Amino acid sequence: MNNNSLDLNQQEFAQLLAQSAQLVLEQFEQLTSAKAYHYHPQQEVAAWFDEALPLEGMDTEALLAEVRKKVMHTATGNLGPNMYAYVMAGGTQVSIVAEQLAATINQNVTKWHLAPAISEIEKRVIQWSAEMMGLEDMTGGVMVSGGSAANLTGLTVARNIAFEKFGVRKKGLFGLPPFTVYAAQEVHGCVDKSLDLLGIGTDQLRKIRTLPDFTIDLQALEEQIIVDQANGFHPFCVIGNAGTVNTGAIDDLDALAAIAKKYEMWFHIDGAYGGLAASLGSLQAEYKGLSKADSIAIDFHKWLYQPFEAGCTLVKNWDTLRRTYFKKADYLDTALEEDRGRLEFNEHTFQLSRNAKALKVWMSMKAYGIRRIKDMIQKDIDLAHYLADQVEQVSDFELKSRSELAVTCFRYTGNFDREAEIIDINARLIAALEKDGRVFITGTRLNDEFVLRACLTNHRKQKESIDYLLNVIRETAKTLQHEPQPSY
Ligand SMILES: Cc1ncc(COP(=O)(O)O)c(C=O)c1O
Repeated sequence: MNNNSLDLNQQEFAQLLAQSAQLVLEQFEQLTSAKAYHYHPQQEVAAWFDEALPLEGMDTEALLAEVRKKVMHTATGNLGPNMYAYVMAGGTQVSIVAEQLAATINQNVTKWHLAPAISEIEKRVIQWSAEMMGLEDMTGGVMVSGGSAANLTGLTVARNIAFEKFGVRKKGLFGLPPFTVYAAQEVHGCVDKSLDLLGIGTDQLRKIRTLPDFTIDLQALEEQIIVDQANGFHPFCVIGNAGTVNTGAIDDLDALAAIAKKYEMWFHIDGAYGGLAASLGSLQAEYKGLSKADSIAIDFHKWLYQPFEAGCTLVKNWDTLRRTYFKKADYLDTALEEDRGRLEFNEHTFQLSRNAKALKVWMSMKAYGIRRIKDMIQKDIDLAHYLADQVEQVSDFELKSRSELAVTCFRYTGNFDREAEIIDINARLIAALEKDGRVFITGTRLNDEFVLRACLTNHRKQKESIDYLLNVIRETAKTLQHEPQPSY
């Protein structure tokens, strides 16, 4: 260790890199055999890290050994084929390398001259993503941490552009009539959070009832807009779901675009989960209208299989972002007369310092090619249909939702006759499966009913993974049946 800086000498550093590469390889060696979840009570995990502030450094080999034991070997199995909870993608090997390279050069993608190559790469990723989804006229965008931030960004642009004439950036919302936002009941909770943060307030989010397929009821939407107008509200934004988190439902985006146009509203699409699936030829009809959005949230750490974090907001042009976010500051004013093409990301988004999220996305797109990535998205969808088919064909499960995308909801019914028993076993299954750890699955509520929800956004899953999931659920349910039963 060199005492004049924090650096190791080259030989020591090479050794550290080789040792860490070994840890990476080990994760891949045990991909299918490792548990999807390693259950340890919270207090036990906290105790592993309960130590004093380290005033002196430790040997890096010993440090890696500690990381291996406490972190790598206990990590939730997002990489492997037995993860079904939330929307977890498995990452790509090329991204692992990209993250290390990005950390090495430690670029700050804010002012163009602080990260020339990565700034251009980010612009390219934005353009390629739009092109991949057939959105050639979405020419502006910015990478953010994920779907929540991408929706917040889109809705911030919506608010700042729609109310620009009232000087909303300077005066705030004070004195303006309350403006209302519309989305299906199934909309993701990050939209509530966004409206809260934007000062619009969640009371102004009109959650419109859905049809049996969980898409927005267009008639109910228009009725609500008309009622709000009559009551002095200012309807200003409609949000379409391009894949809901619960069931992957895709709203009728074309009809929503028409409604937005009719009532002169901003049209934002939450495509965090399903947006990138618009690239599939098989889903062109479902995504009709996507190109009519004013802003779209997408997520590379979902269906581009990137490691966390990587989301993106696409908009029609850079100017809407600049009008939303530009803030002059003397210490940032570095315009160069002779090089006017530089895009300053700090002028087009909230963050000033930003990491090089685009490198891993760009490298993955180039290394695998969009065709192969699309094949993986299609495989996920086919496997979700396979799961739905399996569930329908057996007598001890019942299907609760079948999606155009890769999420399937179902219940274990065993040989129970009574509804109360089925509700009880499914509710207890989630905790039991978490403790068992062979698969990781969570639940949700559909039409007020608790269901198991399997999301399959992982290019490493195969048919056998699905068979395994159902068998593990069966086995775990049987162990629960032997526990003392509640009396109904
Ligand atoms: C439809 C939808 N929108 C938004 C989000 C939030 O994305 P993130 O977790 O990346 O913030 C999710 C996450 O699952 C989602 O499925």
